[in-house]
Amino acid sequence: MATGPQSDSRLPPTLDPARIRRLLLDPKLPFAIESSVDSTNNRLAQHLDRGQPLRVLLAEHQSAGRGRHGRRWLSPPGRGLYLSMAWDFTTRARALSALALVAGLAVADAIARHSNIRLGLKWPNDLQVGGNKLGGCLIDLRQPGMQRCLAIIGIGINVDLGSTAGPDQPWTDLVREGGCNDRNRLAAMLINALERDLALFEQSGFAVFQSRWKNHDVLRGRHLRLTGNGTDLEGLGCGVDASGALLLETTTGVHTIRAGEVSVRHLNRDRRAPDRGAMGPR
Ligand code: BTN
Repeated sequence: MATGPQSDSRLPPTLDPARIRRLLLDPKLPFAIESSVDSTNNRLAQHLDRGQPLRVLLAEHQSAGRGRHGRRWLSPPGRGLYLSMAWDFTTRARALSALALVAGLAVADAIARHSNIRLGLKWPNDLQVGGNKLGGCLIDLRQPGMQRCLAIIGIGINVDLGSTAGPDQPWTDLVREGGCNDRNRLAAMLINALERDLALFEQSGFAVFQSRWKNHDVLRGRHLRLTGNGTDLEGLGCGVDASGALLLETTTGVHTIRAGEVSVRHLNRDRRAPDRGAMGPR
């Protein structure tokens, strides 16, 4: 992995709707590409509110890309993949707590196909390579009726940030990891993987994804500290349960941590227990 910024790095190829469509498993899938939006999640929601039958929105640039916990998502023009997909679930929002985990698994599959890079997943929604942030997922939910829930699944992936200032945390991008900068192929791989995994999730729930999660879980066997919502817990990460909740073994027993209730950070990465199937830094 290169260490410094790549000042001479050229922009990845622009997004090309015809090229993406040729690579889609469902060539009729309604998607659009815009040059600049505030946030693809917001913009896709606006399109849906106006009755446009869009499923996926991609943008070259986001002026106000949103991350979790109200943070900004750095979205320099042409240097990342900024994608949102709408999915109208025939279920209640409560049943969708593992959606970010499933989206992360779809990204891991797409990146493996696109660039032969193994992605680490940090519960609930961080996409990492070698402990550095490569991307993330942001899910917006709307519950228009008792048995339905519209999810907008937003995914940001650093493709080639070049010499642009990176996020204020350890980060990486696909090109730094020796991957490919073809965002059209990445977009198509990602849409295909999301379509497949979201359909499976809707049909079978998270339990069928548990073993896949284990292959990418960077928290399993690590000493963790969980904070947020008045919680301050320390313990050993023990993977996730069949609903996607994080399991934390503490001196008082195993705690079940549900999505959105806590934030997680490593206490000491060197105290990692012997490998139990988790994926460490490459
Ligand atoms: C995070 O790790 O904090 C989540 C980042 C999610 C960023 C993506 S980029 C596409 C979509 N539109 C947004 O405004 N945010 C998500």
